Amino acid sequence: MPEARITASAAATIGPISRRVFGSFVEHLGRCVYDGIHEPGHPTADAQGFRGDVLDLVRELGVTTVRYPGGNFVSGYRWEDGVGPVAERPVRRDLAWHSTETNEVGLHEFAHWIDRAGIEPMLAINLGTRGELEALDLLEYTNLPTGSAISDRRAANGSEAPFGVTMWCLGNEMDGPWQLGHRNAVDYGKLASRTAKALRQLQPDLELVVCGSSNSQMPTFGTWEREVLEQTYDDVDLISAHVYYQPVDGDVDSFLASAVDMDRFIDVVAATADHVKAERRSDKTIHISFDEWNVWYSRRFEEQERITAIDEWPKAPRLLEDVYTVTDAVVVGSLLISLLKHADRVQAASLAQLVNVIAPIMTEPGGAAWRQTIFFPFAITSRLGRGEALRASVSAPTITTGKYGEVPAVDAVVTREPETGSAAVFLVNRSRTESITATVALEGLGPVAIAETHTLADDDPDAANTLQQQDRVAPAANDSARLDDGRLTIVLPPVSWTAVGLEPEH
Ligand code: AHR
Repeated sequence: MPEARITASAAATIGPISRRVFGSFVEHLGRCVYDGIHEPGHPTADAQGFRGDVLDLVRELGVTTVRYPGGNFVSGYRWEDGVGPVAERPVRRDLAWHSTETNEVGLHEFAHWIDRAGIEPMLAINLGTRGELEALDLLEYTNLPTGSAISDRRAANGSEAPFGVTMWCLGNEMDGPWQLGHRNAVDYGKLASRTAKALRQLQPDLELVVCGSSNSQMPTFGTWEREVLEQTYDDVDLISAHVYYQPVDGDVDSFLASAVDMDRFIDVVAATADHVKAERRSDKTIHISFDEWNVWYSRRFEEQERITAIDEWPKAPRLLEDVYTVTDAVVVGSLLISLLKHADRVQAASLAQLVNVIAPIMTEPGGAAWRQTIFFPFAITSRLGRGEALRASVSAPTITTGKYGEVPAVDAVVTREPETGSAAVFLVNRSRTESITATVALEGLGPVAIAETHTLADDDPDAANTLQQQDRVAPAANDSARLDDGRLTIVLPPVSWTAVGLEPEH
């Protein structure tokens, strides 16, 4: 059997892992909000209409932050529509997804849901069709104690206490021609800088995310980051990155190697931010908020789902409801490895999205909620991937891909909590044909023992969980794992993602 040799040392840390890396995203899109997290008629719904079964799954998923309310949706959104008595809220046309927005869920409802889920909110501001003044109003409404006109309005609408939101996105995908209010990097950068300065006059300690590129294939990628940061370097804390992967023209090998692209993407954004840092002789480092990432069959959306008829504006239509396979979950697991490998720069990330829309959790109106295949690597990595990330050197057989050339069949990262001595090893085997024996030399971890193993693989890599077969796919314990004298050996089946939890021996 082919072998991969991996070495990681407690002395070679990448950096502390921000818990915000395990964030997700709720957009007013399709059935993510309505008939997703919110369904007043559902048997498990609370008094505000939020499904209890979905909340349970969200907690199990281990989501730490949720970005809201968009996405492309935010660039046409008036936040004021979503506050005040529900019966008086306006019904609007949402241009981003050609849908009808009833505004039954807005800021107060989201705050209630986030509180019940035990999650930190991350709010996106509309900088597509709006500007500084509306952003200031939203911040005053959201975060300021009562005593001014707009914060008093929040109290009148039922929330005396401010919502206390720290993380704010200055717009969404402003580099994309599809975005309402799309503009060039310098124009956007100037607007983002003015808005950030204005917001900090109300609350200096906000954490602000400026828009980076919508993906690394954008014609402006690299230049966009440089020009935007030249306008905003002193005003913001993080720059965003977004990416969605899918197999193109049946090229599954390249798809399985998507994390190679994510690695490069992160490295280029970090290098570009550091270039601006050098130009400015600045001491400050800009971090990355990877606030949209996932597998998304967007070609299917463009060819079959996109609503184009001018008179068609459905409410909560079934859009972007991708059914994820084992292969998709292995890719998602490998993308999580990439995020952890960049723990020094990626300080926030959002799996896009959370429910029904390209989501780990699916629901049926009036019926069940279930876990898609991608649920498992996320939930396990969020639970075990704590503390700090350790640099792992990997020597493995290669696979040949159309997009990325020769890539290692195996990738890995090790995490460790210095306070408890707990550790975890995350591994992916991208080979479609070969099982690979991985040997992981773990240096400086002290005496540890295997506490748990999980491998996601299947004889049918296209297997999925569906309404009819909700538990068809789940990770299983990997009985091949052995740990002797700081050497972990484990067999990785073809197209598989694996996690091993280690606990100190007493
Ligand atoms: O997540 C779906 C969409 O993808 C988001 O609305 C947008 O920001 C991105 O293009």
